[in-house]
Amino acid sequence: MLIAVCCDRGAPGSTTTSLALGVSTPEPTIVVEADPYGGDLALGCVAPGGHGEAFPPTPTVLTLATEARTSVTPGLAASKAHEFTGSTRIVPGHFSAEQAAGVKNWAPLAEALRASASRVVADLGRIHSSSPSIPVAAAADVVVMVTRPEVGAVMHLKDRLERLAPVLANIRNAPPIVVPVVVTPKRIAGSVLEHVGRMLAPSNAAGVIAGIGWIALDPTGVEAIHAGQVGGKNERTPLLRSAGVLNDQINQAAGVGPYGAHEAAAVDAYAGQGGEA
Ligand SMILES: Nc1ncnc2c1ncn2[C@@H]1O[C@H](COP(=O)(O)OP(=O)(O)OP(=O)(O)O)[C@@H](O)[C@H]1O
Ligand SMILES: [Mg+2]
Repeated sequence: MLIAVCCDRGAPGSTTTSLALGVSTPEPTIVVEADPYGGDLALGCVAPGGHGEAFPPTPTVLTLATEARTSVTPGLAASKAHEFTGSTRIVPGHFSAEQAAGVKNWAPLAEALRASASRVVADLGRIHSSSPSIPVAAAADVVVMVTRPEVGAVMHLKDRLERLAPVLANIRNAPPIVVPVVVTPKRIAGSVLEHVGRMLAPSNAAGVIAGIGWIALDPTGVEAIHAGQVGGKNERTPLLRSAGVLNDQINQAAGVGPYGAHEAAAVDAYAGQGGEA
């Protein structure tokens, strides 16, 4: 299973959402920072060991992309990843866009991520129809498009979706499966998701949207994930619980096609688990 996470203007959160999707499931998952604009995954996260260590400088996504040009195996992505939490490994990107441009050939990288025996969440950051990262988005089982609830951010997502979906469909010979995800506090999540669902409905002529998802805006939850503290009471942070529900929604979208339920299904599911949606 390959999940591509991306965003557009005014909607930060693709790296955090990718990490949250990675650490909120017991399923072995590799979070790969494949953002052509550079990234800070390794800087933001603390390596396991309990002493605040940094991750070693290599391997990175460049190491993985380079190896993938020679040979792709189901174990390649995992072999180039750092251990993070019990079931999560990470492949950091490079700090600057200039360094990230070292990934010259994205098709073999996409092939390696697609072939991985472990589930992969690829953080593509900001994307457009001519982005070098397009092969990864096209190879993904599900494309998660992160947005914030502000009208401008949702309008950018709508525009991005309308431009991106035909490009991906053309490469895949099949429509992509897209889950727009709104990052918003849980107290307003229900009404925000309904509103965003209504705004995006006219863009869903090709039926690519498999339900609207939700990730809790939760700075404390982000800190816990960065520290690799995702067990015990931290399993109950709004961020991790919303990510767990989103993982289920993504699995369902990938397995049985369009989610088909009410736009607020994610929030309903969260409330059903005892959350105060
Ligand atoms: N769910 C969330 N709850 C609270 N804060 C969040 C959440 N998601 C993102 N943030 C905050 O927003 C900022 C940007 O998030 P993030 O790094 O995930 O965005 P990005 O899209 O990867 O940005 P970049 O383009 O810089 O790579 C960070 O300070 C992060 O902590
Ligand atoms: Mg990022």
